[in-house]
Amino acid sequence: MKKIFFLAIISSFCLYVSAQDISLPAPQKTGGKPLMDAINQRQSVREFSSKDLDLQTISNLMWVAYGFNRESKRVVPTALDKQQFEVYVALKTGVYLYDAKANKLLLKVKGDHRKSAGKQEYVWNAPLNFIYVMDAGILDSSVECGCIVQNVYLYCASAGLGSVVRGYFDQDELKKLLNLSEKKKVILCQTVGYTGIS
Ligand SMILES: Cc1cc2nc3c(=O)[nH]c(=O)nc-3n(C[C@H](O)[C@H](O)[C@H](O)COP(=O)(O)O)c2cc1C
Repeated sequence: MKKIFFLAIISSFCLYVSAQDISLPAPQKTGGKPLMDAINQRQSVREFSSKDLDLQTISNLMWVAYGFNRESKRVVPTALDKQQFEVYVALKTGVYLYDAKANKLLLKVKGDHRKSAGKQEYVWNAPLNFIYVMDAGILDSSVECGCIVQNVYLYCASAGLGSVVRGYFDQDELKKLLNLSEKKKVILCQTVGYTGIS
């Protein structure tokens, strides 16, 4: 009996260690600052502390970016409701693809690749960088991206976080890192973190 108990503990520990996707807590869909205050405070910030974001905040960020707010419809409008956008996020532990239905971050590349997420130094220190990927042939997706970016800006204004959207990154480097097909491209990145240097 003791042996079985011991084996169960070991195997659940191994499962925990080898589990590389991140299961997110349910996003908090209420509260925050009034919308007019958040709009009034939206701004780009370029000084970030290296302090990590907690999992709840990451979950909220992913949801405001590209979550579902109805059975199968997103928080942002998408042309013909095709929902072809992909939202990746570079954290210290890896680069992940957001799976909104499962409320998970799916590990795509292990390790700290924040340096690939942008050419400006503040990017490398910030705890989270969104990488927005679209089908290069579907220009409507860039409008979708604008909606995503603004949702993230407004959430950050509401939650006391800093953010900046960025077009200054190495397209080829990111495409290679994410193993994107020829028809996909990174349209923008967006840095998020606590403001101030640490
Ligand atoms: C499409 C786009 C690309 C941008 N690229 C960068 C960038 O690469 N680096 C950066 O620091 N800011 C970038 N910005 C942020 C703008 O510089 C910023 O929005 C502008 O200076 C106005 O400041 P505000 O956002 O505080 O109103 C970008 C903004 C947009 C809309």
